Amino acid sequence: MLDFDYYNPTRIVFGQNRIAELNSLIPADAKVMITFGGQSAKKYGTIDAVRTALASRDIIEFGGIEANPQFDTLIKAANIAKQEKVDFLLAVGGGSVMDGTKFIGLAAKAAPEDYAGLLSHGFAPVPVTDILPLGCVATLPATGSEMNMGGVITLEGQKRPFMSPLAFPKFSLLDPDLTKTLPKEQIANGVVDAFIHVLEQYLTVPVDARIQDRTSEGILKTLIEVGPVTYRDNDDLDARKNFIWSATNALNGAIGAGVPQDWSTHMIGHELTALFGIAHGRTLTIVLPSLLRERKAKKHAKLLQFAERVWDITEGSDDEKIEAAINKTEAFFNSLDIVTNLTHYGIDDAGIDKVIANLENVGMTALSESGDLTLDIVRKILVAAK
Ligand code: NZQ
Ligand code: ZN
Repeated sequence: MLDFDYYNPTRIVFGQNRIAELNSLIPADAKVMITFGGQSAKKYGTIDAVRTALASRDIIEFGGIEANPQFDTLIKAANIAKQEKVDFLLAVGGGSVMDGTKFIGLAAKAAPEDYAGLLSHGFAPVPVTDILPLGCVATLPATGSEMNMGGVITLEGQKRPFMSPLAFPKFSLLDPDLTKTLPKEQIANGVVDAFIHVLEQYLTVPVDARIQDRTSEGILKTLIEVGPVTYRDNDDLDARKNFIWSATNALNGAIGAGVPQDWSTHMIGHELTALFGIAHGRTLTIVLPSLLRERKAKKHAKLLQFAERVWDITEGSDDEKIEAAINKTEAFFNSLDIVTNLTHYGIDDAGIDKVIANLENVGMTALSESGDLTLDIVRKILVAAK
């Protein structure tokens, strides 16, 4: 196992009918800005329920945070938070709103000339010393943003990650009932996003990290069990609860501590979203199968472990087991009605050129756990994904 620091201060409040508890989770004298997305949180009554819980406080609302949140929108919110002397941010929504609210919190404590610099650090923590505290009411299980310190913001047509230990939510409320209004496609997107978060931390090289490996395998097996059930049956509460907790645990830092990580699929996928508007989870399912085939030799030992322990494949040579595991993974995505090739989304060689140019532009030229996944290899992966 590699050396690591593990820190996660987010309180999770999990269960049905617990919105009223927001009253005790947010300081009594706080002026609160409630942030939300396009319309779902209003339309389905979540904002009303939150306002009722916080009735004794001074509240302002900031709606309209886009899916794949835009830098300019968030800066507008940060400026309002400054003017209105907001003390606490409450994100009500999915990954986009939660990520966006973390960024609003950082920008609200930064000088305007430093706003753009909040995004220029890739996976290195942003050099900040203060943030407006925030909490989340999570309405879409997928990103893990409810219990992690990162986010992804769109600036000038590119997806830009940021991180800071200050950006952990103080708490996140995970109420399964709030996710029942999600369209089926968003459930599918969430299942595959969480699945691939685990794989990006698990499918690298072995370092004898048994807790991380076995926890990862447990999350993957749980998603294989409960993902399709939640996708097809809106009323299976037990499956839904297990899906929600899987998504949170897939990216709260625990399974990634002390192991190598390979976020190549995400970095390539992000540009497919930025350029062509494909939902985040779906972009990952296009890239991952081809990437695993291309990197079979490097990832041999962990791919074999994945085949045997997650997909229970016992027959055949090592190579046959690995190929069967990649095929089963792709079939799992397809079973959620997700199409896993570029052509389906109308992306041709010219589109692939644009992805490569975008990655080059943001300096993502040496991806993977070993930093040897070059743009030439990215091109091969995308051509194979056509
Ligand atoms: O805007 P509204 O009207 O609220 O609709 C949203 C949105 O259109 C809707 N929705 C959310 N909750 C709903 C609901 N509709 C009905 N009922 C509900 N309960 O769902 C749509 C998608 O929401 P969004 O928040 O964009 O989806 P997701 O949670 O998948 O977040 C994706 C964003 O997270 C980033 C992605 O890049 C993308 O910007 N990521 C963040 C990560 C992190 N913080 O660690 C890691 C991820 O890998 C990912 O990159
Ligand atoms: Zn993701």
